[in-house]
Amino acid sequence: MNIQWYPGHMTKAKRAMKEDIKLIDLIIELVDARVPLSSRNPDIDDLGAGKARLILLNKSDLADERCNSAWAAYFEEKGCHVVKVNSKSGAGLKSINGVVLEACKEKIERDRRRGILNRPVRAMVVGIPNVGKSTFINSFAGKACAKTGNKPGVTKGNQWIRLNKSLELLDTPGILWPRFEDQTVGIRLALIGSINDEILNKEELAMELIRFLMKSYPHVLSERYELSAEDPLEGLMQIAKARACLARGGELDLNRAANLLIEDFRSGKLGRLTLETPQQS
Ligand code: G4P
Repeated sequence: MNIQWYPGHMTKAKRAMKEDIKLIDLIIELVDARVPLSSRNPDIDDLGAGKARLILLNKSDLADERCNSAWAAYFEEKGCHVVKVNSKSGAGLKSINGVVLEACKEKIERDRRRGILNRPVRAMVVGIPNVGKSTFINSFAGKACAKTGNKPGVTKGNQWIRLNKSLELLDTPGILWPRFEDQTVGIRLALIGSINDEILNKEELAMELIRFLMKSYPHVLSERYELSAEDPLEGLMQIAKARACLARGGELDLNRAANLLIEDFRSGKLGRLTLETPQQS
């Protein structure tokens, strides 16, 4: 999904989010484990003040496992609960229920003191586009989701998916805007594919990726592409040669090579890679 954000759009999304947040105890925030900071919304900490917080490092299957652990520690340090998940395969989802109870134990205890027993925790899923919100809700809620899904004619507004006796989920996720005004963030979001491709110069993007790989994961380039280049442009040219990306007149088709490289990265063919580390933040 590609959403073009503009100020009016963001104001509306923010207002809707504020209303929804009033109804819940816990915010389940999805971030992309390859870019956990760049894929976070800038205002979520303000919007979610006073609520229990669970961060899911989604697509952790595509990210560097050492970095996944470092990021989990980083967010835990900030008072959030964290679970590494792969919403596509379902890995990691089983541990969420226990973590939710732990994250909301103050609320559960408060309820108990007031004589309210077994009131489920209410949660909503939020995140920027393409981070995996729908995939997560479908895998996590499974059949329950289909049962209470949007039925025409049923009252508009919020519907809750009852996951078990202690957890209810708002049926539609909150879509948040990314921090796209920061150029580095923009490049990272473009690399993971959450910014509209047509507005990007693929060759420049590919060279950014090569620059990053040369610095942080040099073996990836040498192993997959047998690259020995010293600079990103030379690297892209070598990839074009190695993968026979040739234009009509026989010259190198750098655009095609760029697309191949970016696709290899997005699909995990370059291995599990994380584009940012907590140390850089
Ligand atoms: P959104 O609601 O937040 O916009 O995201 P959505 O669930 O549509 O997921 C966006 C893409 O990310 C989908 O791929 C989805 O399969 C993939 N995805 C979600 N979670 C994970 C995960 O944990 N690991 C991996 N590897 N991929 C994940 P797609 O290319 O749009 O669709 P498809 O090729 O899977 O059909």
